[in-house]
Amino acid sequence: MMPAASVPIITIDGPSSSGKGTIARAVARALDWHLLDSGALYRLVALAGQGRGANPDDIDAHVMLARAMRVEFLTDSAGYERVLLEGQDVTGAVRSEQAGQGASRVAVWPALRDALVERQRAFAAPPGLVADGRDMGTVIFPAAELKVFLTASADERATRRHKQLISKGSAANLADLSREIAERDHRDTSRAVAPLKPASDAVMLDSTGLSIQQVVARVLALGRERGLWQVG
Ligand code: DC
Repeated sequence: MMPAASVPIITIDGPSSSGKGTIARAVARALDWHLLDSGALYRLVALAGQGRGANPDDIDAHVMLARAMRVEFLTDSAGYERVLLEGQDVTGAVRSEQAGQGASRVAVWPALRDALVERQRAFAAPPGLVADGRDMGTVIFPAAELKVFLTASADERATRRHKQLISKGSAANLADLSREIAERDHRDTSRAVAPLKPASDAVMLDSTGLSIQQVVARVLALGRERGLWQVG
């Protein structure tokens, strides 16, 4: 196996609902690279805590779960991605608002963030990794070859989230979503440890008004310019 240092890495960081999950997944697919959805790990810690009946403020209990929890990211025989926690399928639960809110709470604890560092770095494997989160380019993979900081206006992010929820058949109120997005942005950018901020060498990419295909094409063009893969 190639040493981890030679594995090319693209980090895609940005605020909630900036589309980074969708973009990271599409870029990983286009290149046939591995994908790290780091937010899912924070969500899984919150879910594991809820499943064990842990006190939501008990840092030690959550740190222990972050170290010990058994997590699998799989693609099932029909081609759908599945997330397993202790062997249980939690694919739906992990994307719930409840898990997202829980993740945002546990993510402010330095000891918990430390407990997840090695788990995240272990995703770097040949032929390459696309890592999506808040601190991928600043803390987890500071030597990544390409760092993208994806933004979109708060209004556009609320509208995207609204459409996403409506398409899933969930009730959603645009004003409530705008407020929640603003609250989560504030918590993610103002926390003391690994706050959401672009790495000094990140490329800022504002996706307001751009299609998913346009943003993916831009990220791939940046990777190609930097020679992250052989052009066949
Ligand atoms: O990207 P997401 O919505 O799945 O993330 C859920 C929460 O986890 C988000 O509010 C902030 C936190 N998070 C983090 O602090 N660091 C990361 N690398 C990824 C997510």
